This record gives sequence, structure tokens and C-alpha cells, in this order.
Amino acid sequence: MYNAKYVIVGIIVFAVLFTTPFWFGAGSGAYKRPDVVLPKGETECVEPVEYMRAEHMQLLNTWRDEALRNERRVYVSSTGKKWEISLQNTCMKCHDNKADFCDKCHVSNSVYPYCWTCHVAPGGNK
Ligand code: HEC
Ligand code: HEC
Ligand code: HEC
Repeated sequence: MYNAKYVIVGIIVFAVLFTTPFWFGAGSGAYKRPDVVLPKGETECVEPVEYMRAEHMQLLNTWRDEALRNERRVYVSSTGKKWEISLQNTCMKCHDNKADFCDKCHVSNSVYPYCWTCHVAPGGNK
């Protein structure tokens, strides 16, 4: 029989080595932030900027689920402000410079959201 103690140690060592790369990427805002163009004449996003930086992907998923599964089209932010749940009419109305905002940051982090094959980007799907 193998010594169970060593087998378990081996499993733990393997698990630690195998998952290490993920630990560095975990946590909020651990990605490159190039100089993005922020909307002119607006001072705040739908949630505080640190939250948006770290969680906008999850927020968009929540928005989609709320709209499509729960038919809820109004989002109440952490500050109590109400926003229409819409990628096109809310997010992209302020962030109308998609190329120098969403795209610029995504490209420098090698993320390519597939949303724009269906959703209309400001100025058309270019
Ligand atoms: C009313 C206008 C407005 C709307 C609507 C809006 N934003 Fe923003 N957003 C801003 C502004 C202004 C900032 C910069 C805030 C700051 O720097 O304090 C910002 C910041 C951000 C950031 C962080 C950028 C950085 O500085 O790193 C992300 C990501 C973001 N928004 C995504 C979204 C998404 C996704 C939506 C829709 C769910 C959305 N925004 C809706 C105005 C808006
Ligand atoms: C400051 C940088 C930055 C800005 C600005 C930004 N994003 Fe992102 N976004 C990211 C990063 C980094 C990821 C990947 C994060 C991850 O996978 O954990 C991401 C992921 C996403 C995802 C999920 C994609 C996937 O395949 O999982 C969506 C959807 C998204 N962003 C939408 C937007 C939209 C819409 C805007 C513009 C309104 C925007 N983002 C602006 C950095 C940014
Ligand atoms: C295959 C086509 C398709 C793709 C790809 C797609 N969506 Fe959608 N999405 C839809 C349709 C259809 C609706 C329903 C429109 C409605 O009822 O308002 C919708 C609704 C939504 C809504 C809520 C309502 C609205 O008008 O914004 C959000 C938020 C959303 N999608 C986010 C995303 C994000 C983020 C991505 C990329 C990660 C994405 N979607 C990719 C088809 C798509």
C-alpha cells in the first residue's frame, strides 16, 4: 500500500502549483488599465468607479438575467439611483466612444466580449 500521508501531501502540492497562476489574477482590478476616454459631461457611472472596474462584467450578466429572466428593466444602484437596464441605452449612451473605452481596455487585456454580434454599438456595429 502507498503511504496515504504522502499521497495527500502530493495532492496538496499539485493543487497549489496548478492553481497559482489564478491567484495572481484574482481580486479586484488586477488588470491593465490603458488611458481610456471617459464620457464628457458625466461625473459618475451607475456604480462607484472601483466597483465598475472590477465588476462590470458581472453587473452586465446580472442586468441581462434581470431583464430576460425576471423581466425587470430597472436597476437600483447602491446609491439608490434608478437606471434603465440596457446595454445600448444606458451603458453605451454615456460610453459612446466604444473604440477608445471598452475596446481599448479589452484589447490591452486580450478580452474580446462577443456582445456586439447582436447588440448595437454606438454609431453602428463597426
Ligand atoms: C451616466 C453615464 C454613465 C453610464 C450610464 C455608465 N457609465 Fe460607466 N462610467 C461613467 C463615468 C463618468 C465613469 C468614470 C467615473 C470616475 O472616473 O469616477 C465611468 C466608469 C466606468 C468604468 C471604469 C473605467 C475606468 O476608469 O477604469 C467602466 C468599466 C464602466 N464605466 C462601464 C460601464 C458599464 C458596463 C455601464 C453599463 C452597465 C456603464 N459604465 C454605464 C459614466 C457612465
Ligand atoms: C479599464 C478597462 C476596461 C474597460 C474600460 C471596460 N472593460 Fe470590460 N473587461 C475588462 C477586463 C479586464 C475584462 C475581463 C475580466 C475577466 O475576465 O475577469 C472585461 C470583461 C468584459 C466582459 C465579459 C467578457 C467575457 O468574455 O467574459 C464584458 C461583457 C465587458 N467587459 C463589457 C464592457 C463594456 C460594454 C465596456 C464599455 C462600456 C467595458 N467592458 C469597458 C476591462 C475593461
Ligand atoms: C446571440 C445574440 C446576443 C449576444 C451575443 C448577446 N446578447 Fe445580450 N441580448 C440579446 C437579446 C435578443 C436580448 C433581449 C433584448 C431585449 O429584450 O431587450 C439581450 C438583452 C441583453 C441585456 C438586457 C437588455 C438590454 O437591452 O440591454 C443585457 C444587459 C445584455 N443582453 C448584455 C449582453 C452582454 C454583456 C453580452 C456579451 C457578453 C451579450 N448581451 C451578448 C442577444 C444577445
